[in-house]
Amino acid sequence: MTNFIKVPKLEADKARNALMEHNLYLKGIKTQNDKEFVYFPVIKKGFKTKELKKYKVVTKKSKEYSTTKSFRDILVDDLHIKDYIASYDTVGGIAILKMTPEMKKKEKELTHLFLQNNPTIKTLVKKASEHHGKYRLEDVKYLAGKKTLKTQVKESGCIFNIELGKMFFSPRLSFERERLAQKVKDGSTIGVFFAGVGPFSIVIAKKNPNCKIYSIELNREAHKCAKENLAQNKIKNVRVVCADVAKYAQKIKDLCDYIIMPLPKTSDLFLESAYTAIKKKPEGQITLYKFVPKASLYKDLINELKLFAKKKKKKLKVIFKREVRDYNPKIVQIVIDFKFV
Ligand SMILES: C[S@@+](CC[C@H](N)C(=O)[O-])C[C@H]1O[C@@H](n2cnc3c(N)ncnc32)[C@H](O)[C@@H]1O
Repeated sequence: MTNFIKVPKLEADKARNALMEHNLYLKGIKTQNDKEFVYFPVIKKGFKTKELKKYKVVTKKSKEYSTTKSFRDILVDDLHIKDYIASYDTVGGIAILKMTPEMKKKEKELTHLFLQNNPTIKTLVKKASEHHGKYRLEDVKYLAGKKTLKTQVKESGCIFNIELGKMFFSPRLSFERERLAQKVKDGSTIGVFFAGVGPFSIVIAKKNPNCKIYSIELNREAHKCAKENLAQNKIKNVRVVCADVAKYAQKIKDLCDYIIMPLPKTSDLFLESAYTAIKKKPEGQITLYKFVPKASLYKDLINELKLFAKKKKKKLKVIFKREVRDYNPKIVQIVIDFKFV
């Protein structure tokens, strides 16, 4: 039996970060889930930490990971690295390591130990750039394992084919896709702007087979993959379009009950396009993702939306908002669901 902290799913990312930060996460034990809560294994029964003391700790049967060592243990115990950031993302069978200068000096040994301790990882790469350019691509460099940047990601009962370096994909938005899939009314028309390889469109379409979804993406490579992904998941109610949303919005004028805008760097620059495509009567709902400073959080974006509403002689109605994930120590990604009424 193990102690688990019981956290509502919406707060899972924040709680996990706080547990890591305060060294309270119990390594080697699998996290558990039910419909509403995530259960993180913890080393104590109660916490004084501000972010964690509101959560209950429960005792449950636990399962151990088959891996022998955590990434942090490899870095600290085996490689004696002090300047570590125990951070990597997995995308399907590929792990992307973030390397500090000290980690780079021990790259060969680290590569070997990582693959040995993570049998589900087939390819190991290192992050070579931040996401950049209009296609939001991330450069990666091959380190070891199977020599491919193509992989398949399983999420919410769907499968996505992707190729790292040529298109954007983030597993960290899976909760948001699930949230929206449960929130939209089946039978509605949905515009997924900045759709990438189709994860938002496909997860929503699968749960809502009577919706009609326009999935709009500018990057030809991502668009090609999105088409394959529709076929692979046997989805019939999504139309994938390779276009600039600023132009395509005119073609779906006043048609959408929902618009989803997952381009957190600049999505607010496309508000005019969302306004063009959204239904005015009854008013449709727009979901917008944005990177914002932690210090001001929702304030500036809400002011910007209010100003936009005023220009259209409307009012802003915020329906839901939350912090999605930390982007860096000063920047957080937020989401706001809203209407112009
Ligand atoms: C942050 S990614 C999100 C992709 C996808 N929704 C996901 O969650 O994996 C943003 C995507 O918007 C696309 N994009 C950027 N500007 C665009 C535009 N003006 N019209 C259509 N797509 C655009 C990029 O190519 C990129 O694939």
